Amino acid sequence: AAVKKYQFDIQVKNVSRLCHPKPIVTVNGMFPGPTIYVKEGDRVLINVTNHVQYNMSIHWHGLKQFRNGWADGPAYITQCPIKTGNSYTYDFNVTDQRGTLWWHAHILWLRATVYGAIVIMPKNGTSFPFPQPYSETNILLGEWWNTDVEGNVKQANKLGLPPKMSDAHTINGKPGPLFPCSEKYTYAMEVELGKTYLLRIINAALDDELFFAIAGHNMTVVEIDAVYTKPFTTQALLIAPGQTTNVLVKADRTPGRYFMATRAFMDVPISVDNKTATAILQYKGIPNSIMPVMPQLPAPNDTEFALNYSKRLRSLNTPQFPANVPLKVDRHLFFTIGLGKNPCLTCQNGTKLTASLNNITFVMPKTGLLQAHYFNIKGVFTTDFPDRPPTAFNYTGAPLTANLGTSLGTRLSRVAFNTTVELVLQDTNLLTVESHPFHLHGYNFFVVGTGIGNFDPAKDPAKFNLVDPPERNTVGVSTGGWTAIRFRANNPGVWFMHCHLELHTMWGLKMAFVVDNGKSPEESVLPPPSDLPQC
Ligand code: C2O
Repeated sequence: AAVKKYQFDIQVKNVSRLCHPKPIVTVNGMFPGPTIYVKEGDRVLINVTNHVQYNMSIHWHGLKQFRNGWADGPAYITQCPIKTGNSYTYDFNVTDQRGTLWWHAHILWLRATVYGAIVIMPKNGTSFPFPQPYSETNILLGEWWNTDVEGNVKQANKLGLPPKMSDAHTINGKPGPLFPCSEKYTYAMEVELGKTYLLRIINAALDDELFFAIAGHNMTVVEIDAVYTKPFTTQALLIAPGQTTNVLVKADRTPGRYFMATRAFMDVPISVDNKTATAILQYKGIPNSIMPVMPQLPAPNDTEFALNYSKRLRSLNTPQFPANVPLKVDRHLFFTIGLGKNPCLTCQNGTKLTASLNNITFVMPKTGLLQAHYFNIKGVFTTDFPDRPPTAFNYTGAPLTANLGTSLGTRLSRVAFNTTVELVLQDTNLLTVESHPFHLHGYNFFVVGTGIGNFDPAKDPAKFNLVDPPERNTVGVSTGGWTAIRFRANNPGVWFMHCHLELHTMWGLKMAFVVDNGKSPEESVLPPPSDLPQC
């Protein structure tokens, strides 16, 4: 194992897209930011120095950070932010994980431009469980706003309304030639006839679940969220914010130029989605003058494609990479996902949009929760987050009133060390037509079941897949449906769980688990680093 060191300078850079130049926050002036390239078993030291006016924190999305929440990154959850002029070194080991993950700012909406890939190569002496690709490339899907994102958000919150949606999707920071002034902001990947390539696809968009396809080329899915899957071939894939998908693509078509394209699944409003980003798969020796072919993407509201695609995702589950699904459950949790309105004196309509889990809208604390937990600081949070909603109702009927008047609080759910948890997330289908991509920090979980309508505790568990369910860190909960996940709480600390749609996170669709220490020092939270930022 090696020690890999990175310096991240958070700095402003002027960038232009869609004929709109503007200053954006970046890492080292790069958009998207640099790739963290490590090998399983490495120790990583990333020194982040903040040169911008905003507070900063960075999350290494999907890294488990065993006993080491200090390096996890969500502001006010595991650390106080890095203030202007200050530095903090994220110090962590990459153990028992290999594949594609990513990093992003975890404060305000700054991840709009502050994000990058994490590539973890298999440890020495091991290889991929699929044919070695000839070469590989990262495909980061994102969003671009022509105007200042933080300004939009501030303004919208004052009025109690949703902020302006993005103006384009992007592939590796570039919208592609279908947008004005964008010919030179087009990502192109050169391929050689007959060779196979590994694409590491990351959805870094803030608020859109995305379809992705390459004209004329099938993709073989081999890994999701840094966990190997049973390979399967598809013409298009679906990826939620926070998720990663590795695919193999063989350059086996008539040499030419082919568009890769991405657009939103169930974007709002569906009829005016003109944000499709494109990039080019270009065979070696083919001139740029040839017009690329456009792929067939599923229709924006193709729920059937979405459901079928998710069903095909299975853990590889071989002796070398077993799926250790917890078979016995110690603790059953049932959280309802609600979107509603709360009173707001300063807002335009006297109300503001809110979001809740079990009718609780999470309030961000002013001190890091992990510090409060570790140093036993009172009055920062409570541990009375309910295991189920206050009242049962027809969750997928017309639950408007049931979701109104949520209570506010920094309430955490306390979980005993090493217990197995089953969590059912139940959508209550109110204002949205998107699925909610839920992300749990500190763990991977197994997605043992999903369904449409109300979860039925008497019938549905019998249909769970406890053999080879997908193992991941972010999972979509369908509109008007439910998703059941299982994990073993063997990582002590305070771990955030939230919808990875930035809009919903901001409205309060989040909570945290506090997982107790085990009996031995090896099962306890590590001491904090000496440069941990203070609030
Ligand atoms: Cu990728 Cu808490 O986030």
